Amino acid sequence: MARCSDRRLAVVVFAAAVLGFSWFLPAAEGLGVNWGTMATHPLPASSVVRMLQDNGINKVKLFDADAVTMEALAGSGIEVMVAIPNNLLDLLTDYDAARDWVHQNVSRYSFDGGVNIKYVAVGNEPFLTTLNGTFLNVTFPALQNIQRALDDAGHGDSIKATVPLNADVYNSPKDNQVPSAGLFRSDIADLMTAIVQFLNQSGAPFTVNIYPFLSLYGNDNFPLDYAFFDGTSSPVVDNGIQYTNVFDANFDTLVSALAAAGVGGLPVVVGEVGWPTDGDKHASAELAQRFYAGLLRKLASNAGTPLRPNTYVEVYLFSLVDEDAKNVAPGNFERHWGILRYDGQPKYAMDLTGQGRNTALVAARGVSYLPRVWCVLNPGAASQDGVGSRLGDNVNYACTYADCTSLGYGSTCNGMDAAGNASYAFNAYFQAQDQAEEACGFQGLAVRTLKDPSTNTCNFTIQIETSSATGTPVVAMAMAVLVSVLAVMVTP
Ligand SMILES: *[C@@H]1O[C@H](CO)[C@@H](O)[C@H](O)[C@H]1NC(C)=O
Ligand SMILES: *[C@@H]1O[C@H](CO)[C@@H](O)[C@H](O)[C@H]1NC(C)=O
Ligand SMILES: *[C@@H]1O[C@H](CO)[C@@H](O)[C@H](O)[C@H]1NC(C)=O
Ligand SMILES: *[C@@H]1O[C@H](CO)[C@@H](O)[C@H](O)[C@H]1NC(C)=O
Ligand SMILES: *[C@@H]1O[C@H](CO)[C@@H](O)[C@H](O)[C@H]1NC(C)=O
Ligand SMILES: *[C@@H]1O[C@H](CO)[C@@H](O)[C@H](O)[C@H]1NC(C)=O
Repeated sequence: MARCSDRRLAVVVFAAAVLGFSWFLPAAEGLGVNWGTMATHPLPASSVVRMLQDNGINKVKLFDADAVTMEALAGSGIEVMVAIPNNLLDLLTDYDAARDWVHQNVSRYSFDGGVNIKYVAVGNEPFLTTLNGTFLNVTFPALQNIQRALDDAGHGDSIKATVPLNADVYNSPKDNQVPSAGLFRSDIADLMTAIVQFLNQSGAPFTVNIYPFLSLYGNDNFPLDYAFFDGTSSPVVDNGIQYTNVFDANFDTLVSALAAAGVGGLPVVVGEVGWPTDGDKHASAELAQRFYAGLLRKLASNAGTPLRPNTYVEVYLFSLVDEDAKNVAPGNFERHWGILRYDGQPKYAMDLTGQGRNTALVAARGVSYLPRVWCVLNPGAASQDGVGSRLGDNVNYACTYADCTSLGYGSTCNGMDAAGNASYAFNAYFQAQDQAEEACGFQGLAVRTLKDPSTNTCNFTIQIETSSATGTPVVAMAMAVLVSVLAVMVTP
């Protein structure tokens, strides 16, 4: 843990007093978050760990076992699910490789003041149908090898290997769409049965990712209110049980599938659940706030689900912060899952204790921004003859290497004219490139400005400094940029 100077501590204590100590309240029991780092400018790991602690979050799920992340978590006491990416699964079908992996990524942190590892996630949704079966043969052997290596290294009692799976590994039959009819997907039924029996033997939980948002996305017939937790006009009735939200129905479909596979009591961890705020007509801060308010209230009440009543569910929210470099193949919303923005600022009111209070998360501290300089379409250049296709090519280029997902239909920056689109794209690229002067060229079509081009709904962002840039005297850098911007602006 980074040490606070006395002065900083005084500021923190003062802030705590001003905030009425609200951030010392514990988060809902069992609540964790996913911490992904697929961003052009990830927050410093130490800021993230402090932010987790400030918000009372005691569990975190990772997508790798990156040394910088692990070192930041050391000594924090936070429970960690480390992960093995899918592309390593093939290698880990060899026991010696699994033993090395555990040695380097688990045993290494297992000392007093080290990392409190609780789970190893073997792969990430490896049986997703869109992966075309690529990992079907390697996942189970890798799972077995990792658990055996954990056992052999003496970690087996406290650290369990599990496989985070998408909810598409189970379903109910087309003609009987009720949770009690849940079964594992027919093409992988035998494999899933073997896996869940192995998990049961080793004392590991089943880990599932459940996305009410995705039920709604791309299905115009899905009842909107069924994705939330405030009741619905169209409940699903199953053996006299009324399901009023798809989260419970989905969870209980899994419980039924587990029972059919002979392990009805297997503990279930929800590895991912959340709601994005941009990139689709149903991805908004307003709906995300509504979703989490309902989910957190439900979790805090320890009500469980109809098939597993009166239990608390271990849940990892997806996700902690926006990641502007995620693959957008599933949809433009992929880069907007954060309960906090890319810079660690809260997006909407959220009460992790589930009491529905109108509170905000505690933002990341110690974040430095690049200077307040934007890159926009140069209005003079835009009126030149034959600029059309050149403009299109440059916008495409910018959006290939930077995040333009807020421009699409139903998103916060949709509805601007072509010039607005171009400015947005140029700025996104310029920021992604750390505001390098040459990143605002675009064949003479772009120009830097000190005037914020943001609109009421659309933020033209300023990126944050990443660790490679920290240490640069910020004031000197801002002055240098200011001078060069003024120079550009007075040039005809
Ligand atoms: C984990 O261990 C392997 C060696 O088995 C190593 O190659 C890798 O870099 C380590 N870190 C991660 C994140 O997998
Ligand atoms: C899966 O197959 C489809 C159709 O053949 C293809 O477009 C896609 O790229 C494949 N995905 C992977 C991950 O191999
Ligand atoms: C998995 O194993 C089966 C049977 O050995 C084989 O037919 C199939 O091609 C393998 N799949 C992959 C993706 O390697
Ligand atoms: C599951 O594990 C429990 C003990 O943890 C055991 O009693 C039970 O027999 C196991 N079930 C199966 C199907 O292996
Ligand atoms: C702006 O960009 C979005 C997303 O690519 C597109 O849907 C829209 O039509 C563009 N607007 C104009 C005026 O070109
Ligand atoms: C834009 O950014 C500001 C802070 O810079 C924030 O308060 C506001 O909520 C953001 N708006 C959107 C639509 O993201």
